[in-house]
Amino acid sequence: MPSDLNQKIYVAGHRGMVGSAIVRNLAAKGYTNIVTRTHAELDLTNQAQAASFFEKEKPNQVYLAAARVGGIYANSTYPGEFIYDNLMVQNNVVHQAFLNGVKKLLFLGSSCIYPKLAPQPISEDSLLTGKLESTNEPYAIAKIAGIKLCESYNRQYGASHGVDYRSVMPTNLYGPGDNYHPENSHVIPALIRRFHEAKINKVPEVVIWGTGSPRREFLYVDDMAAASIFVMELDKKNYDQRTEPMQSHINVGFGSDITIAELAKVICVTAGYKGKIYFDPNKPDGSPRKWMDSSRLNQLGWSAKVGLDEGLKASYLDFLANNALHKLKKQD
Ligand SMILES: NC(=O)c1ccc[n+]([C@@H]2O[C@H](COP(=O)([O-])OP(=O)(O)OC[C@H]3O[C@@H](n4cnc5c(N)ncnc54)[C@H](OP(=O)(O)O)[C@@H]3O)[C@@H](O)[C@H]2O)c1
Repeated sequence: MPSDLNQKIYVAGHRGMVGSAIVRNLAAKGYTNIVTRTHAELDLTNQAQAASFFEKEKPNQVYLAAARVGGIYANSTYPGEFIYDNLMVQNNVVHQAFLNGVKKLLFLGSSCIYPKLAPQPISEDSLLTGKLESTNEPYAIAKIAGIKLCESYNRQYGASHGVDYRSVMPTNLYGPGDNYHPENSHVIPALIRRFHEAKINKVPEVVIWGTGSPRREFLYVDDMAAASIFVMELDKKNYDQRTEPMQSHINVGFGSDITIAELAKVICVTAGYKGKIYFDPNKPDGSPRKWMDSSRLNQLGWSAKVGLDEGLKASYLDFLANNALHKLKKQD
């Protein structure tokens, strides 16, 4: 249960998909003292700016949802920026949090920290057991460093300073606030946009890269936010019982996965596209399956609530409200 709803909570990255969901969910739970800064107001890659922010605000808790994030295209095109920005953001936030007396911090990682060929479902102890997927290796290495940063501070400063920095590894997320950029987005927002535009422009068929057979797991972002707050609120004894000092991260998944072909059909129905879907098997598929083992979190008492149909309907409404309204108006 939340101990103190008035404690000051800094949500880093509050305008992002996950950060905004965390703010929504904290507010809904009655937390009243949430501190935020936009990227323009506070560049977290800048040590001096991060230091002066923490010295001024002195938050009690931190949710670290600020990161340089993107799909395969962005990760392959900007590998230097992906590793540099993410290492800098997390180093500055975690270290300044520590220097300014923050006892509780939640670091958001990603399922890409796990080896490309990790056994499925992927459990937390697969970390550092094999080679990473090469397209997003720099990003994944930064995220692994983030977990180890939190763990190392716990190990060195846990007893002396009461530091308790935790990490959660979400599966693929989707929902309100997603990025619908044509080249730079993940599979769900990319397909929402493509089916919506095909409907508006009366395009008779949509071709999707790959065979459609790879399996993926998707979690609605408000479930992710709820899981993040759940993990943050867990008492230390419970958290410590299910984790190890050097294996402290917790997977957050939906619990089951579906094929890309099945996903495409659901999005097609959600967006009201009546044309045909084809798959292009000459284009790469990526890993055959990526499914997280969330049993550790389930045993702690949390599981996902929002199903794919419900989540995609809410996502499509958000897309219409924020990204496509002008085009619909033109069509009317
Ligand atoms: N989306 C997913 O499917 C997914 C899956 C697994 C894990 N995650 C993790 O969840 C976290 C949040 O992801 P997201 O999807 O919410 O990403 P997002 O929508 O891109 O949000 C990231 C936020 O961080 C901010 N930011 C980036 N660099 C910054 C900097 N140097 N200083 C200050 N703010 C900065 C961004 O601001 P600007 O936009 O102004 O730059 C943005 O508001 C990340 O750690 C990511 O790895 C996401």
